[in-house]
Amino acid sequence: MRARAAGRGQTALPGDQEKQLSTSQSLYERASRHVPGGVHSNTRFQAPHPVYFHRAEGAYLWDVEGDRYLDCTMGNASVMLGHACPDVDEAVADAVSRGLTTGVETEAAVTAVELLAGMIPDFGRVRFANTGTEALMHALTIARHHTGRERVAKAEGAYHGWFDPLWVSTWPAPDQVGPADRPAAPPSSAGLSRSAQDTVVLPFNDAAATERLLREHASDLASVVVEPVLIDIGYIPATGEYLRLLRDLTTELGIVLIFDELLTGFRLAPGGARQVYGITPDLTTYGKAISNGYPLAAVEGRVELLAATDPSRGGPVGWVGTYNGHGSAVAAAAATLPLLADGSAQARLDRLGGLVRDGFAELSRTYGIPAMIAGAGGHFQPYFLSEPVTGYRTAMVSDPARYAILHRVAREHRILLPAKPLLHAALSTAHTDADVAALLKAAEEAFAEMRRSTT
Ligand SMILES: Cc1ncc(COP(=O)(O)O)c(C=O)c1O
Repeated sequence: MRARAAGRGQTALPGDQEKQLSTSQSLYERASRHVPGGVHSNTRFQAPHPVYFHRAEGAYLWDVEGDRYLDCTMGNASVMLGHACPDVDEAVADAVSRGLTTGVETEAAVTAVELLAGMIPDFGRVRFANTGTEALMHALTIARHHTGRERVAKAEGAYHGWFDPLWVSTWPAPDQVGPADRPAAPPSSAGLSRSAQDTVVLPFNDAAATERLLREHASDLASVVVEPVLIDIGYIPATGEYLRLLRDLTTELGIVLIFDELLTGFRLAPGGARQVYGITPDLTTYGKAISNGYPLAAVEGRVELLAATDPSRGGPVGWVGTYNGHGSAVAAAAATLPLLADGSAQARLDRLGGLVRDGFAELSRTYGIPAMIAGAGGHFQPYFLSEPVTGYRTAMVSDPARYAILHRVAREHRILLPAKPLLHAALSTAHTDADVAALLKAAEEAFAEMRRSTT
């Protein structure tokens, strides 16, 4: 099939562009006969069609044509040890060779839990689910049961999965955000239930306004859900004082504090953000890096809260799922967690991230383009702005046109960055100094183009 002429916004790859586009395009045409947009997660769609991939190893992906890409997205940051990490894949292959898939308990699930208990400070009890969204749904159910209250509070801009009532105020449009000290709660999707209208949206890192809102709504609030670092809008750490305020206030007001550690978990430290901040929430959700790309998530929390789900004691809160603790996923976790436990993987990622940060700072100075890289644990986000970023409102002014140039030039170099200007890129321990140098080389070309387009 012939490639279509390049459309607006389409990335022109150097070299064998015709061949590249023809195979991915023909797969897209086949897929989109049956699948809306030809993709199974909307974030994978890009105009005029997505690229379809065939295999992955280490820091690289190969598309259906066999062309190699440096991956700086790493399975939405879940693949912390690199694609096809030998230890992990051997454990999965071993599990597969024994034929067990799901629906029963396995030794690997027990081992994975013991490893978690050894890594996470103040570990209570834990239960497995498959995805972060499910883990957060379970956590809210436990919180509602525990408090007898219904509503939930979350930080402005934060993403916690695709279900109501948490799928509100995620990347809201600037004209929808409402007053800074009382943010609006615009839905992030059509079709959410009424519960989404009840969500209280907190101004992240604004202690006074947050305290006012929590006190005002305390009698209705079952939980406060917070990502200790807002990573789905780049990389915005909570101040220690802000998290401490959330901890103290939720304790005082009888609200369940939930840390969403889907992205901070295991990347910031072996014990996640909880270890970094020295603050223990009531419940915590984990996933992603826990199993290096295999579908596993967890809810960990205080013994008495998780006891409500205990079938051996007639716990009233249900916890079921055909694929919970799937044989391959728990085998992956049991092999992944030992590689994350001593802090050396995190140190490697911080060193590589430092090279990215220093390189962008130098490019920003050289080309006179205001930019900064935020990140840790291999997460990194280029912000094109001059003022410090403390929450969604300061992040949303990052120049999307400059990010689009960076994204396009990187694609021309066959380097994959997130298409969304406010998300987060991710490295793995399989990335090397040479990979960072390749990224910075592409970035330099992008900065030169940004300067040309401003003069
Ligand atoms: C912070 C955070 N919470 C929750 C989720 C939802 O996880 P999942 O996509 O596994 O449902 C994500 C996913 O990107 C996330 O980044």
